[in-house]
Parts: sequence; C-alpha cells; structure tokens
Amino acid sequence: MTNKKISDSIVETIHIVRPQHLNSVGRLFGGVLMQWIDEVACLVAKRHSHTGVTTASVDNLNFIMSAYPNDVLVLIGKITFAGRTSMEIRVDTYREDIDGTRHPINRAYLTIVALDKNDQPTEVPGLLIESPSEQMEWESAKKRREMRIFRRQEGF
Ligand SMILES: CC(C)(COP(=O)(O)OP(=O)(O)OC[C@H]1O[C@@H](n2cnc3c(N)ncnc32)[C@H](O)[C@@H]1OP(=O)(O)O)[C@@H](O)C(=O)NCCC(=O)NCCS
Repeated sequence: MTNKKISDSIVETIHIVRPQHLNSVGRLFGGVLMQWIDEVACLVAKRHSHTGVTTASVDNLNFIMSAYPNDVLVLIGKITFAGRTSMEIRVDTYREDIDGTRHPINRAYLTIVALDKNDQPTEVPGLLIESPSEQMEWESAKKRREMRIFRRQEGF
C-alpha cells in the first residue's frame, strides 16, 4: 500500500450558526459541533483510506470559546497518525470574523477505524511525514495512542 501525505486528505468545512443549532441559553449546542467535528474527521479518514470508516473514540474535545447566532465556523481536519487499521484525526474549529481573522474555539482528536466490505477493520496506508511540525504531531499522536490502549486495557 502506498504511503500518503497528510496534505492529501485535509478537509475544511464551513457552517453558519443558525437558530436550530442553539441550546437553551442561546449558544451553539455542543452536540451539534460534535456532529460537525465527527463528519470532518470521517471525511479525512475516508480520503486517506478510501474505505468506509467508523469512529472508535473521541478525546481532547476542548471547548475553548462559545459560538453564537450568525457566527461563521471553520472546521479543519487533518490526519496526524496512521496505525494498522486506525487513524488519528485532529479537528480544529475556528470562529471566523468578517475580516478573515480566525479565533480557535475547539480542538479535538478522533480515532477513526477503516472498515472493509464485511464491516471489519482493514489496513490503511501509512503516512509520509514532510515537515518537523508533522513529525512532532506524529510523536504526540503516538503517545496519545499509547494512553488510549492503556485506558482500553483498564476498561476506562
Ligand atoms: C472501532 C471498532 C471497529 C474496533 O473493532 P475491534 O474489533 O475492537 O478491532 P481491533 O481490536 O482490531 O481494533 C482496530 C483498531 O481500532 C483501534 N481501536 C479500537 N477501539 C478503540 C478505541 N476505543 N479507541 C481508540 N482506538 C481503538 C485499535 O487500536 C486498532 O487500531 P490499529 O489497527 O491501528 O492498531 C469496533 O469497536 C466498533 O465497531 N465500535 C463501534 C463504532 C461505532 O459504531 N461508531 C459510531 C458510534 S455511533
């Protein structure tokens, strides 16, 4: 299987916060943002693996700032690590001002697993690391993966 670049599978989506996305205190409902994040992560994983995918876990879902009606949100997803059948995807969410300034409002890491036609985990292409920042992200992802495996073993 040929290794692929991180840039081959980057996904960017844009949403406008509408009334149907709000919670009872007039802010963006966290569950809606989680859906958008999950969709971006799965699209990145599909682009990398060219298979069907499923979300295995979500962690480091940090809500940094709120979003309000008519805010423009930009979500950017990129793969940070490729395992045997799983991929770690980082999704950054920004609120974008009219002048293009972006304010980070959320960062999440998701583990997405590639599935074959029988709905079983299947191998994914490796990652071609092209820069020191990609290498750093890869090393951090390896540590997060070890922690996830430990948590799984502990039944946590
Ligand atoms: C994710 C899933 C396919 C893993 O299946 P499994 O039989 O446990 O398969 P494996 O043990 O071979 O694990 C496959 C890969 O997933 C990873 N994995 C499994 N569970 C994980 C978890 N909870 N968190 C992170 N990674 C996980 C494994 O480390 C492995 O990665 P690797 O191949 O890169 O080393 C299975 O647990 C599943 O279908 N879960 C439900 C997913 C779902 O429905 N998501 C949508 C929610 S509505």
